[in-house]
Amino acid sequence: MNLKFVAVLLFLVVVLGLKYPQPSITHGRTDVVSVTPWLAPVVWEGTFYPVLLDSIYQKRNITVAATVFAVGKYIRFLKDFLETAEQHFFVGFRVKVYVFTDQPNEVPKVKMAAGRELVVRSVPNSKRWQEISARRMEIIQTLIEETLKNDVDYIFCLDVDSKFHSRWGTESLGELVAVIHPGYYKDDRSKFPYERRPASRAYVAPGEGDFYYCGGAFGGVLAEVHQLAQTCRKNFEDDAKEGIEAAWQEESHLNRYMWLNKPSKVLSPEYLWQDFKARNSEVRVIRFSGVIKNYNEIRPN
Ligand SMILES: *[C@@H]1O[C@H](CO)[C@@H](O)[C@H](O)[C@H]1NC(C)=O
Repeated sequence: MNLKFVAVLLFLVVVLGLKYPQPSITHGRTDVVSVTPWLAPVVWEGTFYPVLLDSIYQKRNITVAATVFAVGKYIRFLKDFLETAEQHFFVGFRVKVYVFTDQPNEVPKVKMAAGRELVVRSVPNSKRWQEISARRMEIIQTLIEETLKNDVDYIFCLDVDSKFHSRWGTESLGELVAVIHPGYYKDDRSKFPYERRPASRAYVAPGEGDFYYCGGAFGGVLAEVHQLAQTCRKNFEDDAKEGIEAAWQEESHLNRYMWLNKPSKVLSPEYLWQDFKARNSEVRVIRFSGVIKNYNEIRPN
């Protein structure tokens, strides 16, 4: 099916020329903002042409990596994550999904399409989910340094307790990519759950901050994500040495980082909704969303 997709695309490009509606700079979506004040696109359904974008990136012959952590009871979410990724995540492109788990034997056997690969890596379990969360940045940093450097172009780091429901593809690619959290995007920034204690390296002052971004999905080119992972890890560890843990752990550090280093592309909450939330009217498509779960049942503490 993958090969068919690529063949059809090539046919369109080479034989027919690529056909898509005429772009306009005066007509488009008016119910949402599709560019930030620093001129990064905000990706919403209806602001891009998938076939056009795919043809651009097919020519570049890109490889996209995804990381996902399935530690402890979170392993139960892995099957749906992997199966729906096969249906919706960069279909037709070369993809490497890295699963980090303490139970490699429990990783479901999901059939991957041609050009797509599943790589399983062992990691130790931890007594505290906060620690698992902190170790993620370290593992992402090391993975980029030791494994991905030469054969991957883009990486996305995604939460396992989520599912794909619709296309997540080349429209999401950029140097540094952040996803707007579905819970706060209509709120005043004073209400964002940033870390508010100045003693923490994740601190964001009351009059600061652009958006509240998700810790559960971020990405970009390797160099940018490496810089992010290294910085967040160091800040987390330096905080820990002083007995401080940011309000939302890595998500707090990521938000501080994205305030200081503006993302070059911002993905709308279509890219990480929450199943318990009713869909708002401006969200025409839910592409990826967190499943409903009982924290008491799945977290180790
Ligand atoms: C595309 O990239 C893959 C993997 O990096 C490589 O094996 C292949 O030869 C490349 N194809 C082209 C047409 O450059």
